[in-house]
Amino acid sequence: MSDSLTVIVLAAGAGTRMKSRRAKVLHEIGGRSLVGHAIGAVRGIGASRIVAVVGHDREQVAAAITDLGQDIVQAVQAEQRGTGHAVRVALEALDDATDGTVLVTYADVPLLQQETLTSLLIEHRAGDRAVTILSAHQSDPTGYGRIVRDDDGSVTAIREHKDASAAERRIREINSGILAVDAGFLRRAVDQLEATNAQGELYLTDIVAKAVDEGRPVGAHVLEDVWQTEGVNDRAQLAAVGAELNRRTTEHWMRQGVTIVDPRTTWIDSAVTLEPDVTLLPGTQLLGATTVASDATIGPDTTLRNVEVGAGASIIRTQGNDAVVGAGASVGPFAYLRPAAELSDGAKVGTFVEVKNSSLGEGVKVPHLSYVGDAEIGEGSNIGAGTIVANYDGVAKHRTVVGKHARTGSDNVFVAPVEIGDGAFTGAGAVVRENVPPGALAVSAGSQRTMVGWVQRKRPGTPSAQAADPTDEPAQEPAGE
Ligand code: UD1
Ligand code: MG
Repeated sequence: MSDSLTVIVLAAGAGTRMKSRRAKVLHEIGGRSLVGHAIGAVRGIGASRIVAVVGHDREQVAAAITDLGQDIVQAVQAEQRGTGHAVRVALEALDDATDGTVLVTYADVPLLQQETLTSLLIEHRAGDRAVTILSAHQSDPTGYGRIVRDDDGSVTAIREHKDASAAERRIREINSGILAVDAGFLRRAVDQLEATNAQGELYLTDIVAKAVDEGRPVGAHVLEDVWQTEGVNDRAQLAAVGAELNRRTTEHWMRQGVTIVDPRTTWIDSAVTLEPDVTLLPGTQLLGATTVASDATIGPDTTLRNVEVGAGASIIRTQGNDAVVGAGASVGPFAYLRPAAELSDGAKVGTFVEVKNSSLGEGVKVPHLSYVGDAEIGEGSNIGAGTIVANYDGVAKHRTVVGKHARTGSDNVFVAPVEIGDGAFTGAGAVVRENVPPGALAVSAGSQRTMVGWVQRKRPGTPSAQAADPTDEPAQEPAGE
């Protein structure tokens, strides 16, 4: 007997209850599509090939599956005539004879784990079975196919809910839909299926009774962890399964040494990686391919998507996308890091500061109320409060370069393209339109004029004038009021 393994992932169904323009299996939990989770679970179980059956929303689903792997064979089921028909279509798409074992899974069952499939296959192969069902006990089995067993407990059939008798409907052991099947048997069995049932479909599940009739061994691998068999049909189930995935993800990271103060308000996508002694404060969302190195603290109320955070960094009440935060750097509260914001080690981006497509050298500080776009700031420089890098002239974006150890004044505008040299200073309120050489001080505000007594002369009777001169008479109420 060959050990080769073929995986068939069923993804042709309509997903009507999602009420969505997007195909059901492309909806996401944990930052990954449902079909992405399904394919992820079957990677690494030693499959020599994976066939995905597509049908409804075919263009969207096929494109997504191609992104998940060029090696995945796609079989088109033009008309959804049932799970048995879908498997038939999958087998037809494989040009050579299939031998060994076929594993059938669904694209809309996202919590299924690779380890579960491995145990299912071990049990299936050890028993030299025709079919091994992945089953589970559901408190409410309504809608599922039931595992029918005889008096000595041997599996004899799967009965679909709509075809089940009242007694069979009381069975709580359900078919998850995931089956391991002997390939040679499967080929013959799916060709002989008939649609003589309540739904007029070709039921894959009918192969169980057929194997029993032929005297071939069949069995069920009972999964304690019922969540892994949970399918998604509507948005309420999508949210429930998504919350459970997040519960599992946060628990996983806590076991790896990450402190998560409030796991229920902390959302971590499946592709995120965290090092030990990271601390996540309430209201934190780590999305996409975000990575956080040891001893960094994130949150509260921070969302990072595809952000690389260095060791010991601190990020408070911040939105960050596609950015890099160096070791020991500090960001926020109320900061916005946009794509290609790159903060070197020990840099500081403070309160109400936005940084886009800019590199901040080691120890650079932009502490307050500033916009830095398309700029490069050399190590050790300090950018004054309220600085705006005017990178856009209304037509094109231009670069600003600030050298090392520069000190720029408060309320500056750097009108790009412009360069401020190493060790240069600028005065408060400067509008820097021309390059500043190293070591120079640039000021651009005119010298201050002070008109003594202007308020008492021009604004007599106002509270300001009285504050300046208590002998000033209050203004009279206009007559006739
Ligand atoms: C199926 C099982 C049932 C099991 C349940 C678990 C059958 C006959 N019944 O029922 O025993 O308890 O799943 O959720 O197998 N699909 C196709 N092409 C088709 C039909 C379905 O690709 O022609 C795909 C769907 O996209 C879905 C999966 O197969 O991913 C299951 O189909 P669905 O219609 O949901 O089957 P159920 O009636 O739920
Ligand atoms: Mg279903």
